[in-house]
Amino acid sequence: MTPPADATADPLADRRFMAAAIALSERGRGLSTPNPNVGCLIVCEGRVVGRGWTQKGGRPHAEAQALEQAMDRARGATAYVTLEPCFHLSPRGPRCADLIVRAGIRRVVIALRDPDPRTDGQGAAWLRDHGVAAEMGLLEAEARAAMAGFVLRQTLGRPAVTLKLGLSLDGRIALPDGSSRWITGPDARAHAHLERARHDAILAGGGTLRADAPRLDVRLPGLESHSPRRILLSGEAAPQGWERIERPEDIAALERVDHLLVEGGAGAAAAFLRAGLVDRLLLYRAPILIGEGLAALGDIGLADLADAHGRWTLTDERRLGVDRLEVYVAARNA
Ligand SMILES: NC(=O)c1ccc[n+]([C@@H]2O[C@H](COP(=O)([O-])OP(=O)(O)OC[C@H]3O[C@@H](n4cnc5c(N)ncnc54)[C@H](OP(=O)(O)O)[C@@H]3O)[C@@H](O)[C@H]2O)c1
Repeated sequence: MTPPADATADPLADRRFMAAAIALSERGRGLSTPNPNVGCLIVCEGRVVGRGWTQKGGRPHAEAQALEQAMDRARGATAYVTLEPCFHLSPRGPRCADLIVRAGIRRVVIALRDPDPRTDGQGAAWLRDHGVAAEMGLLEAEARAAMAGFVLRQTLGRPAVTLKLGLSLDGRIALPDGSSRWITGPDARAHAHLERARHDAILAGGGTLRADAPRLDVRLPGLESHSPRRILLSGEAAPQGWERIERPEDIAALERVDHLLVEGGAGAAAAFLRAGLVDRLLLYRAPILIGEGLAALGDIGLADLADAHGRWTLTDERRLGVDRLEVYVAARNA
């Protein structure tokens, strides 16, 4: 039987399907370690016949899940994958490059080449050697952002760090007596909880622990089990249920943490910025003025105003109830 001719490239459709695969990959963020949060879509004659994203704990891989859904409809179809299909052998499951060949996929569109040296180009080469058209680089920057933790683990040996701050219009995070509940409203807090669910671990400084005794869990219906591990930045012992690091640089040694959310306070936030360890900023800005109070950041080591410019790129902004969210990424990652 002749397989359906799905190998005809339509650049607009390719972009649309890859964007959908990247959106799927976001579902595994904060859950998929030690594996990358990959997304995969299988499309036959313009119709989606399989969808997958890396599952909790890293298996099944996105491709395996999508192929299982697609069954026979994978024959002759196109697969959109946010990361080059893996080529390394693992006792935990098959290699995806091989699965794709055996399923009869005709064309594979890949966003990002796998920086893991065990695959790094070999997955795509295996596909081509077996008659599968493989293209790399579509929406690469977007895929890189969605899998930032995995990419930074591979390239810099540390997790991707997001710093979250709940601010007044005048840049305060607490009253002079330290009280900060609540600066933002329920919609912004719900969004912040969703962000927690998408991180492997969440960190607060010793000052915040002493002032607020925060639970740092996810209180969204259905997502309670997605509460991340809790990390304390402190010279003092951590309470039960928390892990502790003494310096921001120690995050490199946190096993199975690819995405870390730093929730303050001012001292911890400044320490991470000073160390050059913040990749993404989430600023939830409430329409209130506090005046005298605790500034959002302590000393970040800035000596010259010129050095402050060009460091952050706005990538998203939206209203959340009465509040406003601004998302910035470090210019080096943009
Ligand atoms: N609005 C918001 O988004 C928000 C979020 C969180 C907190 N807050 C507020 O922020 C206030 C707490 O902020 P804070 O600045 O006092 O405390 P903090 O940032 O929570 O913690 C500072 C502590 O971090 C530890 N640390 C370890 N290494 C450090 C380093 N290199 N640099 C700085 N600190 C280091 C030290 O802990 P040890 O002293 O234990 O060694 C230090 O005392 C509270 O009032 C809280 O309500 C607001």
